Amino acid sequence: MLQIIVFIGFKIWHGIRNKQEESITYNPESFMNLSQRSLGDLARDIPGATRVFHEYKLDFCCGGRHSLEQAAAERGLDVAVITRELAGLANTGADERDWRGSGNAALVDHLLTRFHALHRQQLPELIRLARRVEHVHGARPNCPNGLADALAAMQQELESHMQKEEQVLFPLLTQGRNHVDGPLAVMRFEHEQHGEALARLEALAHDFETPVGACNTWQALYRGLRQFREDLMQHIHLENNILFEGLAETGTPSRAASPVAQVDPATLAAPAAMTAAVAAPVGGCGCGGGGKGGGGCA
Ligand SMILES: [Fe+2]
Ligand SMILES: [Fe+2]
Repeated sequence: MLQIIVFIGFKIWHGIRNKQEESITYNPESFMNLSQRSLGDLARDIPGATRVFHEYKLDFCCGGRHSLEQAAAERGLDVAVITRELAGLANTGADERDWRGSGNAALVDHLLTRFHALHRQQLPELIRLARRVEHVHGARPNCPNGLADALAAMQQELESHMQKEEQVLFPLLTQGRNHVDGPLAVMRFEHEQHGEALARLEALAHDFETPVGACNTWQALYRGLRQFREDLMQHIHLENNILFEGLAETGTPSRAASPVAQVDPATLAAPAAMTAAVAAPVGGCGCGGGGKGGGGCA
């Protein structure tokens, strides 16, 4: 009898506690510290936060380690306004899938079909549109001259990067291989380069703001560029802040043990070299596979 009373008492206490935790989770008061959290964390934890960050032009992919407060201050934004929007999102629920806990295979499949395939369609068309605008309107002072060449360079860099992921890194991750610190650091480094290339495109094309009187081609070009920017940032966010961070949480010290500064990008400039780096003996000389010649200390 005593056991039954204790059991019922425990269930009642447990129910009350759950209710309290629920109210804490969704109470705006609990978001007072949102401004101190990193943009990457917030993008990962609050579905829809990426839309808010796009709206305020806050870089949550390559600049994901900056706190919201720091990033807002750099752009001269009122952090309280942004924090309230984020708290509102958390209260109203998700409209984007939460990829945490989905497993590497499902997330990799999403990255390939939703982003890699998409960028391969987007960039040739953007280059075509940019060449057309430059050819017809090149004499206008606000014409984005040089944009087509910048896009072509970015297409090459992105294609090379995606091939490394597709041919080397992603197969390793979906097979459960854990010794991928070097390739992860290189991928993070290249993501930062993509961010810099994107900034160059924005500078050339006046932040993709369509000028008054722009023709349909010009309007289509800037609309496509805005979409490309959003897609690329979401792509990098899912890799940096969820896929790679997930590896760190499950035992692969992807960031702490292999800071980008310690990796020579030239070593892993091609998929074949990246494979060689991964295949280097584990636990041998301790060079981490980052030496010249594809991981060789010999
Ligand atoms: Fe990717
Ligand atoms: Fe990537």
